[in-house]
Amino acid sequence: MRRPYRIAVLASGRGSNLQAILDAIAQGSLDAVVAGVFSDKADAPALAKGRESGAVTASLSPRAFASRADYDESLFRLVDDVHPDLIVCAGYMRLVSEREVAARNGKMLNIHPSLLPAFKGLRTHQQALDAGVSWHGASVHFVSPELDGGPVIAQARVPVLPGDNADRLAQRVLEREHPLLLASLRLLAAGRIDLAGSQVRFDGRALHLPLQLDPDQRLVEQETTP
Ligand code: GAR
Repeated sequence: MRRPYRIAVLASGRGSNLQAILDAIAQGSLDAVVAGVFSDKADAPALAKGRESGAVTASLSPRAFASRADYDESLFRLVDDVHPDLIVCAGYMRLVSEREVAARNGKMLNIHPSLLPAFKGLRTHQQALDAGVSWHGASVHFVSPELDGGPVIAQARVPVLPGDNADRLAQRVLEREHPLLLASLRLLAAGRIDLAGSQVRFDGRALHLPLQLDPDQRLVEQETTP
């Protein structure tokens, strides 16, 4: 029998993306198992959600380590112990050191609340409002050493509406983040998405533009203009 696809989740906070993964697995719409949940915050609600699901959980305080490299070495030793096929940063608010990222090229994802490459870093919803864009959204990308700069797999677009503030916009983006992450994970678990160097491949072909989440929560290819 095929071994289930093993996901390790790194999360610093609320854990709604983790919960979406756990719910999809429980409902049978994602063929995977959350093998471990890891955090830099001992009191992160995400850790409690992981614990409840029966996953291995651990938190490590960055304060207990002399450097980011030392911290990451210890953290990723714990992560490796659960033998993940994929590591998902779902609201993990720390930079990961280059060495650990490089050792896991194509095996680590991040979900980021903007249409990358726009609005990297923090307070992305306010950044979008300040820039006056009409479309905002979320991206799922492979993690590279550059902050929020790795190859993008898929995006969900969300219109900016008159009267939006950062909280309202964040809420509407979050509602699309969950199906975006789940649809991406289904493709990864099925082996339909992979990374060759820094090139995302979809069904073995180079993907030149990120997949887009359609209104039916499916990921579709974007037309490339000739
Ligand atoms: C999500 O909006 C995620 O995109 C964002 O943090 C939130 C976590 O929510 N991630 C980042 O900003 C990473 N740079 P959650 O804990 O409820 O999943």
